[in-house]
Amino acid sequence: MAKLAVNVDHVATLREARGINYPEPVAAAVAAETAGADGIVVHLREDRRHINERDVRLLKKIVQSKLILEMAATSEMLGIALDIKPECVTLVPETKKELTTEGGLDLITHENHIREAVTTLKNGGIAVCIFIDPDLDQIKVAHKIDADMIEIHTGAFCDAPTAAQKQREFFRIVDAAKIGTKLKLEVNAGHGICYNTIKAFKGLAEISEFSIGHSIVARAILTGMEQAVRDMKQLISGL
Ligand code: PXP
Repeated sequence: MAKLAVNVDHVATLREARGINYPEPVAAAVAAETAGADGIVVHLREDRRHINERDVRLLKKIVQSKLILEMAATSEMLGIALDIKPECVTLVPETKKELTTEGGLDLITHENHIREAVTTLKNGGIAVCIFIDPDLDQIKVAHKIDADMIEIHTGAFCDAPTAAQKQREFFRIVDAAKIGTKLKLEVNAGHGICYNTIKAFKGLAEISEFSIGHSIVARAILTGMEQAVRDMKQLISGL
C-alpha cells in the first residue's frame, strides 16, 4: 500500500490569517499521525507566509513518523535543514507571487545548482527528494544528480479542465512513474490530489507515497483531522 504524507501548511495559514498562536500545526501533525499518516510535510517558505522555523523545530521533536521539509535550494534553507535535520527534504521551486508551488523544479536549467544542494543535504544525512514535472528528461537528470526520490507533480492532472486533458496528463504521470522506478528512484506524487482524484491512481503500484495537504486540511475543518486522514488512507488502501 502506498504511504500518505500529510502536509499541514494550511493549518499555519489559518493561524497567520489572524496573526495569533492557533490553530497549532504541531497539534494537527499529531492528530494526522494518530490516524495513520506515514509522514508530516511542511513547506518553509522564504516569506514565512505559513510555516515558520519554530514550527519546523517543534515538529522535528514531536513527529514520530518522518518529517519532510519542502524548501527552495537556497543557502538560507540549506543551513536550516542541516541544523534541524528532517528525515527528508523535498526541493521545490519557489517564487514570491505564487499562491502555491506552480510546477516542478527545472533540473535541465538548474542542474549544477541542484546537484550541489543534493550533495550537501545527503552529506548531512538527509534523504533528498526532487519535486519534478512528469517529464522524462527531467527525471533522467534527477537520477544523474543522485537524488534519492522524485515527487511527480500531479497538479496539471488534478486541475485539467477536460477529460481528454486529464487523460493526457495522467499518461504522463504513468510514464514518469515507470521511468523513475526503472532508474531506481523512489517515486512519490503530490499536488492538487483530493478525495476524488486519488482514485485515478488505482493500479499504479510504482508510486510509493502521496503528499497531500489542501484537501485533507479542508476536510478536517468539517470532520476533524483524524477522520480526514482516515478517509484518505482508506481510499489509498483501495488503489
Ligand atoms: N507536494 C509539493 C511539492 C507541494 O509544494 C505541495 C503544496 O505545498 C503539495 C505536495 C501538496 O499539495 P496540496 O496542498 O495541493 O495537496
